Amino acid sequence: MRRETFDTVILGAGAAGMMCAIHAAARGGRVLILDHARAPGEKIRISGGGRCNFTNLGASARNFISGNPHFAKSALGRYTPQHFIALIEKHGVAYHEKTLGQLFCDHSSRDIIALLVKEMAQAGCEMRLSTTLERVEGDDAGFVVTLGGERAATVRCRQFVVACGGKSIPKMGATGLGYQIARQFGLAVTETRPGLVPLTFGEDVLSGFREIAGVAANVRISCGKAAFEEALLFTHRGLSGPAILQISSYWRETQPIRAAFLPLTDIGALLCAAKRENGRRSIQTALGEILPKRLATYMAGKQGWGGTLGETSDRKLAEIAGLLRNWELYPVGTEGYRTAEVTLGGVDTACIDSRTMETKAVPGLYFIGEVVDVTGWLGGYNFQWAWASGWAAGTAI
Ligand code: FDA
Repeated sequence: MRRETFDTVILGAGAAGMMCAIHAAARGGRVLILDHARAPGEKIRISGGGRCNFTNLGASARNFISGNPHFAKSALGRYTPQHFIALIEKHGVAYHEKTLGQLFCDHSSRDIIALLVKEMAQAGCEMRLSTTLERVEGDDAGFVVTLGGERAATVRCRQFVVACGGKSIPKMGATGLGYQIARQFGLAVTETRPGLVPLTFGEDVLSGFREIAGVAANVRISCGKAAFEEALLFTHRGLSGPAILQISSYWRETQPIRAAFLPLTDIGALLCAAKRENGRRSIQTALGEILPKRLATYMAGKQGWGGTLGETSDRKLAEIAGLLRNWELYPVGTEGYRTAEVTLGGVDTACIDSRTMETKAVPGLYFIGEVVDVTGWLGGYNFQWAWASGWAAGTAI
C-alpha cells in the first residue's frame, strides 16, 4: 500500500469541504480532499431545482437551529453572503434574487461546482474521487488515514477535517460517517433527525389531501413559537411546500401544527362583504373566490359549511374565518431522510471552537458544514453555513 504525507486531509468534497480546501491550500499547506462519490458537490448540483440557492442576503445566526444558538455567529459574521457573492462575481457567474433574499444561479448550479473546483486546483489542492475512508486514527504527529478504493493508500496528516455532511438523501451517498468519527474520538453527537422535509398524515386525513393534491396556498404556519409565512402544498403523501419544510425542522412527534390561510387577508370581512353583495351564493362559492377553488370545496365539505351566505349569520361567517385562521393539524411523521434536505442535530457544538471549527479535545481534528449541530432554514442558509464554516476552518489551519 502506498504511503503519503499531506498537511491536511479533508473528508467530503461537498460545499463545506471544497471551501475549506481552497483556503487551507491557499495558505501553503499540502491539502488532499477526498470523496467516495464520482463527482464533487453532488448536493450543490441538485440544489435549488438545479440552480442552487447558494446564499441568503439576510443570513444571520437567528436563521439556524442549534443546541447553542450563538455558535454559528463567529463564522457567519466573518464570512458573509457578500464574501461568497464576491467569489461568484469574480468567476462571472450570473445570479438573481428570487424572493426573500434568496440568491440563485441564472443558469446552472454546475457553475458553482466548476468555480470551486477551479479555485481548489489554482490553490494546489489535490482531489481524489471514488475514494473510501477505511480508517482514521490519531497518533503523536496527527492522524493516520487509511484509504480504500481505486487508489488505496496510507496517508499521514497533521489536520483531519470532517466535511462529509449529514444523513439526508442516502441515495446520493450520505452515510452518517461523520458522526461515527466524532464518537470514535470521544465527541458528543446530539440527536439527529430529518429536517426541511414533507410531513405525513394518517389515512383519515390523507384521503382528503389526495383529493386536492397539487393545490398550493399561502399560509402562516406555526408550531410552538416558530412561525413562517410561505406556500403550503397538498400532496398524495401529505403536506409539502416551503411552509411545511420550514416548520418540519421545529415539529416533534405528537405536536400539532397550525395553518392560517392568507394571513394578510381579513377573510371574515370578505365573506361579510360577499354576503351583502349577493346573499344567494353558497359559502363554498364565496370561499372559492378567496382561496383556491379546490381547497374551498374541500374545506367546506370537510367542515360541513353548507347553505348560502344569506342563510348564514355574520357570527358564523366570523367562525368560519376563525377556523381558516387556525387550522390545527396533527402530522404522524415525516418522509424521513429519503427526501429531507438536511439533517438536524449532529456533532455537539460544545466540543468545537466556533472561531476555527477545531475540536477542543482533539487538536487537528475539525468538523464543518452539515455534520455539525447547526441547521439552517430553507432559503440558502445551509449553503451559507457550509461556506462560512469551511472558510473558518480553512483559514485557521
Ligand atoms: P454535503 O452533503 O454537501 O457534502 C458531503 C460530501 O461528503 C459529499 O460529497 C459526499 O459524497 C461525501 N461523503 C459522505 N459520506 C462519505 C464517506 N463515507 N466517504 C467519503 N465521502 C463521503 N441548501 C441551501 O442552502 N440551498 C439550497 O438550494 C439547497 N437545496 C437542497 C436540495 C436538496 C435536494 C438537498 C438534499 C439539500 C439542499 N440544501 C440546500 C442543503 C445543502 O445541500 C446542504 O446543507 C449542504 O450541501 C451541506 O454541505 P456539506 O458540505 O456539509 O455536506
